[in-house]
Amino acid sequence: MRFALDDGNLLCYGRRAKRKTGCLPRPCDDAEQTANALSARSIMSCRLFRVFSMSLHDLVFLTEDASHDAAIDLINEEAFGPGRFVRSSERVREQGPHDRRLSFVGSDRGEIIASVRMTPIHAGCTSGHLLGPLAVRPSHKNLGIGRELVRIALAAAERVGSNVVLLVGDPPYYAPLGFKPTRPGALSMPGPFDPRRLLAACYGENDATALEGEIRHRDLA
Ligand SMILES: CC(C)(COP(=O)(O)OP(=O)(O)OC[C@H]1O[C@@H](n2cnc3c(N)ncnc32)[C@H](O)[C@@H]1OP(=O)(O)O)[C@@H](O)C(=O)NCCC(=O)NCCS
Repeated sequence: MRFALDDGNLLCYGRRAKRKTGCLPRPCDDAEQTANALSARSIMSCRLFRVFSMSLHDLVFLTEDASHDAAIDLINEEAFGPGRFVRSSERVREQGPHDRRLSFVGSDRGEIIASVRMTPIHAGCTSGHLLGPLAVRPSHKNLGIGRELVRIALAAAERVGSNVVLLVGDPPYYAPLGFKPTRPGALSMPGPFDPRRLLAACYGENDATALEGEIRHRDLA
C-alpha cells in the first residue's frame, strides 16, 4: 500500500486494489478534520478501496490522544516485550512526556494497530525530537504502515520547526526514509546503545555527522 497527501486529502492505493480494479489512485472518500489539529493535514484519514463490495482495511491515521494510551501500551508490549524498559532511548523518554501533537496512531476499523511517538529532546545544543517507539501489530505488518507513520511524524516535526529527528533503529529500514548515520561516539544517551544504530534525519542546514553531546529530554535542558 502507498499513501500520499494531496491538498489535505489522503490518497491511498495498493497492489491489491490495483490488481482488482486496474484503476489509478484516487482521493479517499472521507478525509476528516479533528479538533486536535496540528494542522488539517496532520489528520490523515483514508478509506481504502471497497472493491466489488469487498471490505479491505478501513485505515485511519490519527494524531495520538490519551484515549489511545492503553492500546499503545499493548502494541509496544507485544512488539518489544519487557526489555523495552531498559533501552537507552527509553531512559530518555522517561525524562519527560512525549509530544502528542507529533505522535500518531494507525486505526483499522476503530482498532489501534500501530503507533509512533515523538519526544522533544536536545542533542547537545540542537533541539529536535526522538522518534519511537514505532510498532505495528503483526496482523498489519508489511503493508507500508510503519513507513507511513515515520513519514507523517517527520513531516509534523518539520512543521513545528524541529532541527533533527533522532532514533535508534535498523539502518536498512530507516535510510530510505531520510535517516543518516550519526558520528560514532559523538552523541551520548543515559545508557549503552549501538552507535551504528543511532540515526538522524536533519532539517535545513543541520548535518547528522555534526551533532554532538548528550541526548536528553528538553524538560531537563
Ligand atoms: C519494524 C516495523 C515497525 C515495520 O512496520 P511495517 O508496517 O511492517 O513496515 P512497512 O510495511 O512499512 O515496511 C516493510 C518493509 O520493511 C522491511 N523491514 C521491516 N522491519 C525491518 C527491519 N528491522 N530492518 C530492515 N527492514 C525491515 C520489511 O522486510 C519490508 O520490506 P519490503 O518492503 O522490501 O518487503 C514492525 O515490523 C514492527 O512493529 N516491528 C517490531 C517493533 C520494532 O522493531 N520497531 C522498530 C524499532 S527501531
